[in-house]
Amino acid sequence: MAHLWLPFTQMRSFRPQTRTFVRGSGTMLEDARGTRVYDAVSSIWTILHGHCHPRIVEAIARQAATLDHATLLGASNPAAATLAERLCALTDMDRAFFCSDGASAIEAAIKMAAQYWQNLGRPQRRRFVRMANAYHGDTIGAMSVSDIGLFKSRFGELTFETRALRDGAALGPDVAAVIVEPLVQAAAGMQLVDRTAYDALRDIEPLLIVDEIATGFGRTGTMFAYEQTALRPDVLCLGKSITGGALALSCALVRRRVYDAFLGDDGARVHFFHGHSYAGNPVACAAALASLDLFDEETTLERAAGIARRAGARLQNLRHHPLVLEARQCGAMIGIELRGDAWRVADRLYEAGHFTRPIGEVLQFVPPLCSTDIEIDAFFDALSGALAS
Ligand SMILES: Cc1ncc(COP(=O)(O)O)c(C=O)c1O
Repeated sequence: MAHLWLPFTQMRSFRPQTRTFVRGSGTMLEDARGTRVYDAVSSIWTILHGHCHPRIVEAIARQAATLDHATLLGASNPAAATLAERLCALTDMDRAFFCSDGASAIEAAIKMAAQYWQNLGRPQRRRFVRMANAYHGDTIGAMSVSDIGLFKSRFGELTFETRALRDGAALGPDVAAVIVEPLVQAAAGMQLVDRTAYDALRDIEPLLIVDEIATGFGRTGTMFAYEQTALRPDVLCLGKSITGGALALSCALVRRRVYDAFLGDDGARVHFFHGHSYAGNPVACAAALASLDLFDEETTLERAAGIARRAGARLQNLRHHPLVLEARQCGAMIGIELRGDAWRVADRLYEAGHFTRPIGEVLQFVPPLCSTDIEIDAFFDALSGALAS
């Protein structure tokens, strides 16, 4: 631990004795002291079917022994090609451009939109429009289309200017793309977006980038949150849970009209000028394929609906608690905003066997979609206990 630097963590107060995880199984993590805790935040919205799910572990092992990695720069591999096909079938999109982390898919989507208009001979379309409270990642482009001052303001010199959607003139003739999170703005503290906020984005000329990196793969009740809205993405960004949470992988799925704008002669230099070393890594793609299979084999969406119902019922009792400012829920994504002390409550929860991480004063409950009623009840019982103390 003497040489490790953790993201979004004040290292001076970090206590490695807790929260050093050595093992995972199902919904549980085991720390270095041998304490088992329920992963109530799905390791920041990644784990879907449980830690170390045997189907995913087996798929990873088989692929790793066959082809561990091969670049996608001017080359292909069967796992990436099959995953592209399955994701396109699932979303009705046409092509998958693979990246690695969520932010790298956002960077690709931003540059794709900019180059799309250049390729069409309309480079004046180069501005980006974002929603209030948006969060799309921590790299420079992703920060630029984000809106959370706490994460972004100290890097103001580095980011480029973007426009807020609420501004009436936002969708002018200089706009390349609008980027939105559908239904839930998770990093803003599970803020819920009114579905009608998306109505203005129907049939617009700029590209519509829909960021499902946090909401995708069943967490809001449907496979993808945009299915519950009027949004029709031109570019759809997926990440986090795409591999069931086992490995880093992300992608930007696009419609044919976007893809076609990048076709031309070899010398024309209209192909997409972007790529990442581990894009479409075959082992990560194999994990993603196994995760998709598990949706059928384990009826994951039905389980997600059950989790949403059970957690929703338990949330009702908390809404009127004097320490709770607001309780927000969309499917299995839940934020409980406290009047203060969220980190102390999270520490108490950890002691009681439940791992979550507050965002500001918002406690998160975003459970793995294999969680049982007993586990959900245990979390809310522990939360009531922590609030009482
Ligand atoms: C909506 C959304 N987009 C993008 C990202 C960035 O993903 P990553 O942390 O994998 O770079 C996040 C991360 O929380 C997110 O919530």
